[in-house]
Parts: sequence; structure tokens; C-alpha cells
Amino acid sequence: MKNTRRSFQKEWDIFKYSDKSWGLTLDDRKHDFLKQFDVKPEELKGKTLLDAGCGNGILTSGLGDFGLKVVGLEQVDLTRANEYNKNKNVKFVQGSVLNPPFKAESFDFIFSSGVIHHTSDPKKAFEELLKLVKKGGKFYFWIYRRKKGVKKGQKYAMIWRIKYPLIYAITRITCRLPMSVQHLLYSMFTAIFQVFSKKRTWTERMVWFYDSLSPRYQSMHTLEELSYWFIEQGYYIKFIDERYSKHGYGLLVKK
Ligand SMILES: C[S@@+](CC[C@H](N)C(=O)[O-])C[C@H]1O[C@@H](n2cnc3c(N)ncnc32)[C@H](O)[C@@H]1O
Repeated sequence: MKNTRRSFQKEWDIFKYSDKSWGLTLDDRKHDFLKQFDVKPEELKGKTLLDAGCGNGILTSGLGDFGLKVVGLEQVDLTRANEYNKNKNVKFVQGSVLNPPFKAESFDFIFSSGVIHHTSDPKKAFEELLKLVKKGGKFYFWIYRRKKGVKKGQKYAMIWRIKYPLIYAITRITCRLPMSVQHLLYSMFTAIFQVFSKKRTWTERMVWFYDSLSPRYQSMHTLEELSYWFIEQGYYIKFIDERYSKHGYGLLVKK
């Protein structure tokens, strides 16, 4: 956990609040949020939302515009997120999704994007977050996917066969390097990438390298395994969002 916290701390220290998050503007992400929960803005007024593993806090803060009462939970220091946030409906709490500091059934909505697979125990993180959802509430999370048995000619076969295992092997080395060495390495990668494409700003690219290569925990999950998580808790997957299908699934459960 210490290692993961340290690498994400560095990632969000580098991040500029004028940058896009994951190539998306705040408006793009708010639009996606409504689709992910299958709700209209008027259905959100006065409801409570937990953004579990809220990262830089830009989306967390923006979701307060829907009239939601929002809590952003993060393991890293939240000084910058608090400075950025001007929305009175939004507050940030430092803590872990593995041991969240909230009572059971505290929230109408729980959103957790790209977080669970970065914990030491993803299934426990899922179970802990599910407990916090009120009856009738919804829980959406996005998680890295694992492909089982890649067939020849299958969509993205090359990526699954070569690219991801290679990146995974590299991360097993990079995540153990001292942060100063990692910083130098990612700065060099960024300098090279920036020569060929200016699609991202320098800091957007650095954040991307930190996010991909630095965290110790980066688990991948099959849909079969995730279905068992749901079944064990007495639920089934209501909606599977495969828009980012190369990398992961967005899963929705209604309590
Ligand atoms: C890839 S970022 C995603 C951030 C944000 N959800 C977003 O979509 O922009 C993953 C985030 O999960 C946080 N995280 C990882 N493990 C955590 C834990 N056990 N408790 C709380 N947050 C955690 C990291 O600090 C990091 O900010």
C-alpha cells in the first residue's frame, strides 16, 4: 500500500489542474458519468455520492454541480484537491477503500473508476464499497480486464498477446525503482513521445507514464471472475460498459 500511495502521490503532485484527465475534459467525464449510472441530472439532486479513489478530485468537484452531496475518498494527500474545489456540496476524506471510514449504506451512488485493481485485495475493495451503498442505490466501478485464451484473428489479439504482457513485465521492474530513478525514466520516455506527438501536454504524458508503470498493484480480471464477486454478494451485473474495451470493463450494480 505504501508503494502505491507513494507513486500516486507523485502522479497527482505532477498533474496540472489545467490538464485533461485521461484525455477527457470535465464535461466529457460528467456526460460519461450520467451514462454509466443510467441517470438524468434531475434524478441526482439531494442524493449522496462517494467517489472512491477520486485521484485529482476534478470530477469529484464537478459532480457537485448536479446538486449531489459528494465525498471524495483518496489514499493520497488531498491539499491540492481541496484548493481546487470551490463546490460546497463536495468534501474530501483521506482513507482507503479497503477500510473505508463510513457506515454501511451511507451513499445513494458509489463511483470508483480505475481504483480497485490498484489495491492489494481487489475483491475486498469491491465488497467494502458495495456495503456502503443504500438499498435502491447504485455502484459503478471500472476495472482492468484480463482476456482468457486469445484466439488468432480475434479483435486486439496482438495487444493481448504481446503488448499487455510486455507492459506488465516492465512494471514489475519500474514499480520497484526509487522514485527519483522512475522520474528520470518517465521524463526520458515523455521527451521521446513528445517529439512524435503533441496530442498530450508534457504533464499529461508524465501522469500517463506514472499511472501505467509505477503502481505496485495492477491486477486484471476476467468477466467470469467479476461475475462471481457479484453472485457471492447476491447481485448480478446490471450493465457492462465496454467502451474502453481494450483495457477494462465498467460494471454497474443496483442494490
Ligand atoms: C488511476 S487513478 C484514478 C483516479 C480517479 N478515480 C479518476 O478516474 O480520475 C487511481 C486512484 O486510486 C487511488 N487508490 C488506489 N488504492 C487506493 C486505496 N486503497 N484507497 C483509496 N484510494 C486508492 C490512487 O491513489 C489513485 O488516485
